[in-house]
Amino acid sequence: MTDNSIRRSQRLNQITHAPHEQLDEAVKANAPFETLASYSRFLSAQYLFQEELKTLYTHPQLIELIADLPDRCRAEQAKADLLDLQAAIPDPVAGAVIGPSLAEALGWLFVSEGSKLGAAFLIKRAVALNLSETFGARHLGEPAGGRAEGWKRFIRIIDDLPFNAEQEREIDRGAVAAFERFNVLLQHAYATASEAEPA
Ligand code: HEM
Repeated sequence: MTDNSIRRSQRLNQITHAPHEQLDEAVKANAPFETLASYSRFLSAQYLFQEELKTLYTHPQLIELIADLPDRCRAEQAKADLLDLQAAIPDPVAGAVIGPSLAEALGWLFVSEGSKLGAAFLIKRAVALNLSETFGARHLGEPAGGRAEGWKRFIRIIDDLPFNAEQEREIDRGAVAAFERFNVLLQHAYATASEAEPA
């Protein structure tokens, strides 16, 4: 069930439109830019997501396709952000992606890379909490070489790969799973952090 008349990245945009809307709403419902406490929980979800994807960002086969892939990972920035805010480094949460196929991995990376576009809006709000791309909100900062440029290069690579029908399904599956996973991590971050706080 693959539509050959549109680019692969356009199809990914379409099939993740609803999950993106839902996640956007879930993020906003927690008002992460109203208090540092709420922001820290959001950051903790971002950190865990990036940390889980580190194995993909550093995978030799994927680096063969996307040479600057390791530099694109934001696990270190998110960790530095947590340290800036003296927030705890969260323990891993069961259910991280393990051993996806190449195409599935690219679906996950599509979501992680795409989230840098939304980050352009988020970092502007972070300023109200005295956060910036050098303190506390490094992981939302502009990537070296520019957001739009980095995204376009990534998309061009994804769109030009020769995939069979099974791989088309796998990349779709990976992208949808990535949104589901971020949602799990978000819910976890808000649930556990509120328990840890004094009443
Ligand atoms: C973990 C994954 C993601 C998260 C948590 C996320 C979160 C968000 C949030 C909260 C906003 C709203 C920003 C605002 O209005 O202040 C947003 C906007 C945006 N996101 Fe995402 N996003 C993710 C993935 C993606 C992906 C995969 C793409 C592209 C394919 C994308 C593209 C955009 C764009 C272009 C905007 C700007 C305005 C809009 O069109 O709604 N995001 N994102």
